[in-house]
Amino acid sequence: MIDLRSDTVTKPSEAMRQAMASAEVGDDVLGEDPTVNHLQDTIASLLGKEAGLFVPSGTMANQVAIKTHIQPGDEIIIDKNAHIFYYECGAAAVISGGQFNCLAGEKGILSAEMIEAAFRPEDIHQPPTRLISLENSHNRGGGSIYTLENLAGIAKLAVKHDIRVHLDGARLFNGALAAKTTVQELARQTDSVCVAFSKGLGAPAGSVLCGSAGFIEKAIRFRKMLGGGMRQVGILAAACLYGLDNNVERLEVDHQNAKRLARGLSGIDGINIDPEQVVTNIVLFDVGSTSMDADTFAEGLAPAGVLLIPFGRTTLRAVTHLDVTTAEIDEALEIIQQFLKKV
Ligand SMILES: Cc1ncc(COP(=O)(O)O)c(C=O)c1O
Repeated sequence: MIDLRSDTVTKPSEAMRQAMASAEVGDDVLGEDPTVNHLQDTIASLLGKEAGLFVPSGTMANQVAIKTHIQPGDEIIIDKNAHIFYYECGAAAVISGGQFNCLAGEKGILSAEMIEAAFRPEDIHQPPTRLISLENSHNRGGGSIYTLENLAGIAKLAVKHDIRVHLDGARLFNGALAAKTTVQELARQTDSVCVAFSKGLGAPAGSVLCGSAGFIEKAIRFRKMLGGGMRQVGILAAACLYGLDNNVERLEVDHQNAKRLARGLSGIDGINIDPEQVVTNIVLFDVGSTSMDADTFAEGLAPAGVLLIPFGRTTLRAVTHLDVTTAEIDEALEIIQQFLKKV
């Protein structure tokens, strides 16, 4: 089975399992897990932030960040397809009492001009704009990215208006690679940023949220409140450290495989895609010119050995990752071509 549904489907390698098995551990709620502490310090310093906080998931990293930044009734400017808005069960409303102001980004990417136009004036009738929430790379945007210039423009605007910036960097390493910059340069433009290890880096779980020392001190309490205080989780942190040491540079391979897939798909009758739009490891394509919608396409293709995720009525998503080889990308293209000939 060639599983292109998500980069979260990877299974820990033998070497990663070894690193997990031999991890030094302690009670992390008491701050005594040396491997978690090492991971938090390593990521914070890599991102140029004062402190980091290990959490079980990307969703919790985002929600702890929002809870730490805002008060109930505050407004969050966000793209309408952002993971935080689209896929986190309305958590920001439930947990933090936040109100979203959703903008229509260009493939999920916002600009300083769009954001400035959305700021609320000082007016007792209106909710105060307190937070700008960005996503890089952007999942529903098809792995689209922020240029450093764009992010720096947004950061400047936020400082001028005394508004915080949170960056959902579940795939920040992919974003930095594609933008030919560093994760630190991107993170520098934000007040808080989180990175995930359970996506392109191949760990079974874990994200780290980073920010100032004061921000993380507050965030620890909210992590506990949400049930994210865990005990001997150095076992998981060791997998994250292994991913960081071994699986960052190879993301380039995933990007090349995604481009290869996109180019191949563009040559198949009935499939619409512009391969130039594919810049990281996510490939969105349209099957509206076939007789099928996305659900029928994915269900029909699965028995032939390729798994994809429907991402809209006629849109599907394929994601490349460390458990899919270049040869398997070619095989998947062949399978898709044969499938379309039969229907
Ligand atoms: C951009 C983005 N942010 C956050 C998350 C949430 O991560 P998790 O599934 O670990 O909660 C995801 C998951 O795919 C994501 O794509």
